[in-house]
Amino acid sequence: MSKLDELNRELEEKNLLGYWNIVRGRGDDYEPRSSFEPSLWKWKDIWSGLEKAGETLDLEQSFRRFIAFATPSLGGTTTHTLLLGAQLVKPGEIAKAHHHTMGAIRFVVKGGGAQTVVDGEPFPMYPGDLVTTPGWTWHDHYNGSKEPIVWLDGADGPLMRFLQVGFGERYESDQQSQIRAVGTSAYELSPVRPSWIKDAKQPPAYRYKWEDTEKALNALGERPGDPHDGIVLRYANPVNGGPTLPTLSCEMHMLRPGEKTKAHRHTSSAIYHVFRGSGSTMIDGARREWEAGDSFTVPLWRWHAHANQGREAALLFVMNDRPVLDSFGWYREEARE
Ligand SMILES: [Fe+2]
Ligand SMILES: [Fe+2]
Repeated sequence: MSKLDELNRELEEKNLLGYWNIVRGRGDDYEPRSSFEPSLWKWKDIWSGLEKAGETLDLEQSFRRFIAFATPSLGGTTTHTLLLGAQLVKPGEIAKAHHHTMGAIRFVVKGGGAQTVVDGEPFPMYPGDLVTTPGWTWHDHYNGSKEPIVWLDGADGPLMRFLQVGFGERYESDQQSQIRAVGTSAYELSPVRPSWIKDAKQPPAYRYKWEDTEKALNALGERPGDPHDGIVLRYANPVNGGPTLPTLSCEMHMLRPGEKTKAHRHTSSAIYHVFRGSGSTMIDGARREWEAGDSFTVPLWRWHAHANQGREAALLFVMNDRPVLDSFGWYREEARE
């Protein structure tokens, strides 16, 4: 055994590790390499999974009838920081009240007329609506409509688990009592707002109505937009205009018919859901076709560009972890001309 091997063994026995072993094989010049590859999930597979889960499990067994978009190699999460998946609530069902450190969002894709109660206020849910349940807010869901409802659930669970700071609690009853009228937050958070609204680390729960998003897309759709993403609308924190939640940003991207974006790469990872239309995304030279209902990921630091070859606008709902990187000054972006 060489002198160095002997030293390494001696250190290891005492739970010590030399720098020469920590950086082995890395060198001094390096850049990010994501631990996961891009993935794509087809809507027909997601929907058939939900339908079968609807026949197989009630909410007593499953608590949430949620199916995660699980990227191979990540052990059940969508990116290394974020989780996205789809949830089915059948008519008459209640997904019981709880709260947790995790911050979450719901983007409605099918059905309509259910509600999520957040901290005592019911938020109606219709296709294209985004409803937030920021960290530690009480929330329960009830489908009082006559049709099944499906929404995408997004959460910062993977990041939170990495930091090992998660708390969770069940509410004292299945549903919260409704102590605030429907629409209260919309008034409290409008540009004409009451004096008691204060900024805090977590934003208040909010419903971004599809109707408003659609109006903005129609009104701004002729603008040049972003060369890498087309028209980008960000779902802003309604108090301070910052990201949707401290850990994640939700956005609606519109690629106009025939639009082809320029390639770029960045240190944030993004999860896309095709809300309307169809098109394709090149990721590091590999082309992925997508159509309405599909979801896909673009891992950090991969070159990517989007194209809409169709005749109608393609609308992409996007969730990314950029706020985390921004808060540490770790966001970096490179563009190709
Ligand atoms: Fe929850
Ligand atoms: Fe991008």
